[in-house]
Amino acid sequence: MISATPSLSVWSLSSHHPADFESLIEQFATEYAFYGAGKVALRDGLETISVANQNVLIPAYLPDAVAEPIVEIGLEPRFYAVTESLHPNVSDIRNRIDSDTAAIVSVNYFGFPQPGLETIAELTDEYDCYHVDDNAHSPLSMHDGTLLGTDGDIGITSLWKQFPVPNGAVLYLNDTAIVDDYAPSAYEGVREHLDVSDCQFLLKSIAFELFDRNTRVRESIDTLVSGSGLGRVTASPRNRYENEKSQMSKLTHRIFADADPESIRSNRRENFRTWNEVLDSRSDVVPIFDSMPEGVCPQVFPVRTADSSEFIRQLEQLGVDGANTWPRLSESVRDNPAYETSNLLSRSTVVLPVHQHIESSAIEAVGDALR
Ligand SMILES: Cc1ncc(COP(=O)(O)O)c(C=O)c1O
Repeated sequence: MISATPSLSVWSLSSHHPADFESLIEQFATEYAFYGAGKVALRDGLETISVANQNVLIPAYLPDAVAEPIVEIGLEPRFYAVTESLHPNVSDIRNRIDSDTAAIVSVNYFGFPQPGLETIAELTDEYDCYHVDDNAHSPLSMHDGTLLGTDGDIGITSLWKQFPVPNGAVLYLNDTAIVDDYAPSAYEGVREHLDVSDCQFLLKSIAFELFDRNTRVRESIDTLVSGSGLGRVTASPRNRYENEKSQMSKLTHRIFADADPESIRSNRRENFRTWNEVLDSRSDVVPIFDSMPEGVCPQVFPVRTADSSEFIRQLEQLGVDGANTWPRLSESVRDNPAYETSNLLSRSTVVLPVHQHIESSAIEAVGDALR
């Protein structure tokens, strides 16, 4: 069985924590602040660098709820097209950008540096607007000696996507004038006490560890511990965003303060390479990235395949939990011919787990069966 996410109890058993994550952030960001979710961090960051009625350019290949904080603070989200290789489509950005643009958001997809950043820099210079570096997928990814997410005027990262934590995100502020203007909302900071959601997370982690090999039992625990379990899938993007509004959990802060970035990065990289090897013989499954630059800490192993549901079914049968297509697009992007490539990508991209608690031998065993 390959679980979708890293588990807290395996984490807490590891004894060696040399360089912590917070000191890594301190090296690269001018200032930073903690939040419960990346979208909330994005909200406070954008509010700092914009005035009402401006627009924000965001890639169309993006989960639907990410546009919600932009709408909430009275800005217009304007989706721009991306290419099949995940580059920003510069001519499309040129058609949409104007003197009311507050910022262009770029995304380091799946933990890999966003290609084509030079052209975004040219556009932000030309239109005198800001660059937002969305690094939600991989807090630990480095590139060219920089921590991803700290490249733009502001940036965000989501801790819960790579650490076994109940929630958590960081807002990076990389310009002293922006730091001066920053006026955080009530969702900034770390909660003073452990709360019900921390206890639910702990319970779930213990139960998952006990029943690790049984997907159906895991699903039942998930439903039991998280309430009905129905709400999360069916709720509107706005409601999902509203539900995530909170400060960082105290448990999250405690856990990631102990994190060992180097070992997480190296385990994830090894699992990424193993998926790459074992899927090599499958001509119907094509990896999105043909190489992995030094410093990258992959969030997942993303592939493209024409029949994504069949591939996911095969993986589930072999005990791979959490393989899914990515992402659910915004309503205004879904089936919109102006964003044909983003629609194609979201239908055909399947992401496979590579987290630090998967043994590469488990991936090899799945590979043997898939062949
Ligand atoms: C590219 C991207 N940006 C931002 C976010 C929002 O992060 P969070 O879920 O922590 O609010 C996500 C969430 O999946 C994402 O994929």
